[in-house]
Amino acid sequence: MRRNSYGTKALKFVLDMTKRYDAETHLLNLRDTKLPFFDPDGSTEEYNLLSDQIHKITEYVIWADVFVLVSPDYHGSMSGVMKNFLDHFWEEFAGKAFGYICTSHEKGLTVMDQMRTAIRQCYGWSLPYGVSINGELDFDTKGEIINDLLIKRLDMLSHDLITYGKLIREQFLKDKSGNVLNTFAARYRSS
Ligand SMILES: Cc1cc2nc3c(=O)[nH]c(=O)nc-3n(C[C@H](O)[C@H](O)[C@H](O)COP(=O)(O)O)c2cc1C
Repeated sequence: MRRNSYGTKALKFVLDMTKRYDAETHLLNLRDTKLPFFDPDGSTEEYNLLSDQIHKITEYVIWADVFVLVSPDYHGSMSGVMKNFLDHFWEEFAGKAFGYICTSHEKGLTVMDQMRTAIRQCYGWSLPYGVSINGELDFDTKGEIINDLLIKRLDMLSHDLITYGKLIREQFLKDKSGNVLNTFAARYRSS
């Protein structure tokens, strides 16, 4: 939610890198694109007011084959807006790969574990590592990354997410449209 957020800068860096693998990207910044608090009934005034936003975001979520989830460390947890975003979706995450970035002074491992847990519950696939960013140490005053090791890890994240994400997505869609009964993709077939 912070203006000039280190997390958003890192995400832009990763999205730029994924273009080397011909990836099409979209950055969903939850500071600018507001989502109402998730309401299972969808009947609040806020829902009606923001229905166009919800619709637009849902289209992007369905469109995406892979995700990079980026959250600051807020009290050892993911930010409230990130949790609220995740609450809005479920099946849309199934069979897709996820990478994680956390801005924290303490590595943010619990934050990334929480995001990973939420994604596992939605049958998404997570990369086995995440990338931690310590903003004041990793960026200079112009907003450029000055930590070579971090650049290397963000580069690795962009490579792995596209490479593994493509394999997972292709196999999931194949299984979903096939007729093998005993695959987790079978439950997403329309009857
Ligand atoms: C409400 C709140 C809680 C925070 N809790 C923690 C924390 O538990 N551990 C930590 O290392 N940093 C904590 N921070 C600091 C942020 O995680 C840190 O400044 C981070 O770099 C912000 O990322 P951003 O630049 O992407 O907004 C907290 C900040 C806020 C506003």
